[in-house]
Amino acid sequence: MRAAVRGWVLTGVAALLPLVAACSGTPAGRPEGGTAQPGAATATDLAERGKYLVEGVGGCNDCHTPMKMGPNGPEPDMSVALSGHPAGLQMPPAPPASGPWVWHGSATNTAYAGPWGVSYAINLTPDESTGIGTWTEQVFVNALKTGRHMGIGRPIMPPMPWQAYSRMTDEDLRAMYAYLRTVPAKTNKVPEAVVAEPPAAPAQAAPTPGAPAAPPAQ
Ligand code: HEC
Repeated sequence: MRAAVRGWVLTGVAALLPLVAACSGTPAGRPEGGTAQPGAATATDLAERGKYLVEGVGGCNDCHTPMKMGPNGPEPDMSVALSGHPAGLQMPPAPPASGPWVWHGSATNTAYAGPWGVSYAINLTPDESTGIGTWTEQVFVNALKTGRHMGIGRPIMPPMPWQAYSRMTDEDLRAMYAYLRTVPAKTNKVPEAVVAEPPAAPAQAAPTPGAPAAPPAQ
């Protein structure tokens, strides 16, 4: 009798399992279209997720949208969202990079000077002449994956945290690109970066002029 009851309970649990599996929905935090098949994210879904990654997790506005002073301190000026360092704000030469204060940033948090040179947050809007309007998805993904300008050029300089973004999945990088295609295009020509000379090799002891030649090394 007891064995028979246990058998009934086990059968009941097994019968419930497919129901439980059917009820577990989309993983939390993954926006999915209501009618979309699993794995078949629509273009809108991709851009929605991209917005979440750009504005939330990635913090791209922190540097690519100029800061203005608000009631509670600096805040991104969303009227020019993601348009990079304002062309009209010409930066004077930066103070020398020395001591513990080795780098400097502009009040807009879009221009930076340090041992690497001078870098300006670029225009990420789809403007074709001054933004990334002509970049393909692949160029965008390659830039963030490799840390090289457009995936093939010079190294991308600080403080752009490409090392962190390079660890995102290709799908997430594609989602950010999809969202960036949808933001209002802003014409803003960001100044060219200045790449500093690499630091000189440690100085060798220079021979004193007129001194006898050093004996040949043993
Ligand atoms: C801490 C500041 C900072 C943050 C945060 C930041 N960027 Fe940047 N970004 C920069 C700077 C500065 C440059 C220019 C670097 C240079 O000239 O080498 C840059 C350059 C870029 C470039 C151009 C790369 C190339 O090929 O030349 C892309 C694309 C880019 N950022 C995308 C993003 C995205 C997307 C995010 C958010 C996920 C983001 N950035 C967040 C500062 C930042």
